[in-house]
Amino acid sequence: MGNKDIIILGIESSCDDTSAAILKNETILSNEIAGQNVHEEYGGVVPELASRAHQQNIVPVIESALKKAKIKKEEIDAIAFTRGPGLLGSLIVGTSFAKGLSLGLNKPLVEVNHMHGHVLAHFIDDETRDKPQFPFLCLTVSGGHTQLVVVNDFLDMEVIGTTIDDAAGEAFDKTAKLLGIPYPGGPFIDKYAKEGDPNKFKFSKPKVPGLDFSFSGLKTNVLQFLQRETKHNPNFVKNNLNDICASLQETIIEILFDNLIQATKQYNIDEVAIAGGVSANSSLRTRLTSEGVKRNWKIHIPKFEYCTDNAAMIAIAGRYQYLVGNYSDQSISPSARLKM
Ligand code: KG4
Ligand code: ZN
Repeated sequence: MGNKDIIILGIESSCDDTSAAILKNETILSNEIAGQNVHEEYGGVVPELASRAHQQNIVPVIESALKKAKIKKEEIDAIAFTRGPGLLGSLIVGTSFAKGLSLGLNKPLVEVNHMHGHVLAHFIDDETRDKPQFPFLCLTVSGGHTQLVVVNDFLDMEVIGTTIDDAAGEAFDKTAKLLGIPYPGGPFIDKYAKEGDPNKFKFSKPKVPGLDFSFSGLKTNVLQFLQRETKHNPNFVKNNLNDICASLQETIIEILFDNLIQATKQYNIDEVAIAGGVSANSSLRTRLTSEGVKRNWKIHIPKFEYCTDNAAMIAIAGRYQYLVGNYSDQSISPSARLKM
């Protein structure tokens, strides 16, 4: 009662999306995203081009977020930005802009770890979803990361499993590239897999101790499989694309769920969430729902718009830093390999 609203501007620029969001308490008023299609023809993100596109996009994206939210910049209580992990040249743009704005408006600056952002997106107000209760387990799967995280509190998280080589998103994107699918391949595999048989082809699963993941073996396995098959039939990929995609996707999901299930047992946690770009995958979402029913888990699936990179998640994560007075000063610099 009588509590003042807290308004946070979130800025995200860790990879190839420039995004700005306005958060009022725990409600998102706007979440603007400018993607970068300059990378398509290169089959992956080109860091130099990403940095330049962020430079071009950041002012219009922030202006548009303020305008959509009907908020004047003077009304902002704090500026939250992604400090890392990510591409350094990309992070520099968001960080520098946030620092300048903080200085100009004389408002506190709060740094956010991009991976915290993915996890904390679950706390954005949404009348169609329950928020997770602590502690919960979060499988964070994106183009750059694959993590199993025990979330004890907003600012207290422990990574209990991670990839020792490629991320889950890379497993999608790199194998998609072998199939001649444009970058990023994840959403295309998702689409083709819907029409395919997930049990048609068998790919090998890695043997990794503990709760860690590995995806580089799968890539080699798929490459050798395609070389073998196309030798007999040059049209093999074309004729079997849906089944290959479905089988590939099934293997990636199996690898993820083997460890996720193991972790729930090891840590005795039955509240399970997914986050990150790969959590947009329809089959992964369905699988979480069915495992949830089977194992009596309480599950949390983010809204599509909060799965892939966005500033709304940075704003909500920044809110919790702001509430405990965790401010950064003007000496802050981005960190490409920032740890959780
Ligand atoms: O979280 P994100 O937007 O950026 C990073 O922080 O990396 O994740 C991007 C990744 C890409 O690898 C993309 O292929 C994957 O998420 N992705 C998907 C789907 N949508 C995005 N992978 C599988 N199925 C999808 N529907
Ligand atoms: Zn991300």
